[in-house]
Amino acid sequence: MSQIKPDVTTIPDADQSRIEEEHAHLEQFVKDLVNTCTEFESMKGCEQCGREQCASCQGRLASFQFDFLDLVAEHLDNEENIMRKYLVSPEDSRYFKSHQAEHVRLLDEIRNNLLRESTRLNRQGRTAEAIRMLHGKLAEIFEDHCKDYDGMLLKRRP
Ligand SMILES: [Fe+2]
Ligand SMILES: [Fe+2]
Repeated sequence: MSQIKPDVTTIPDADQSRIEEEHAHLEQFVKDLVNTCTEFESMKGCEQCGREQCASCQGRLASFQFDFLDLVAEHLDNEENIMRKYLVSPEDSRYFKSHQAEHVRLLDEIRNNLLRESTRLNRQGRTAEAIRMLHGKLAEIFEDHCKDYDGMLLKRRP
């Protein structure tokens, strides 16, 4: 967890809004995946659904896996470019380095743990389980990242 706080007064509202919009877009992307699973809330498995529905969910998850990492990487790049542009003090640079290192860790976690595990489950026909796992873990890691890093960047001072 970072104890270093950036000087957010230097980041224009429009750029802060852009970061927030990208966060909302990523969240919606996961929500759309969740909405393809009709048994998401029931906690039941894919045996509840017909073969066609299962095939459609498997395809939907595969396409999510294909696009999601690029989408996250693009957002992290944009966020870092905004920080590079406006944060100037030594404290800001300590914050930036620590934030950037956390982005590297986050991408690695998504690529090598979450997406890999969801592919394994999907191949076993456990698509509902894969979607629940992704939803839960992604919410957790993005929430933690926001609390420890992005939140400080977005806090607008009166
Ligand atoms: Fe972010
Ligand atoms: Fe971030």
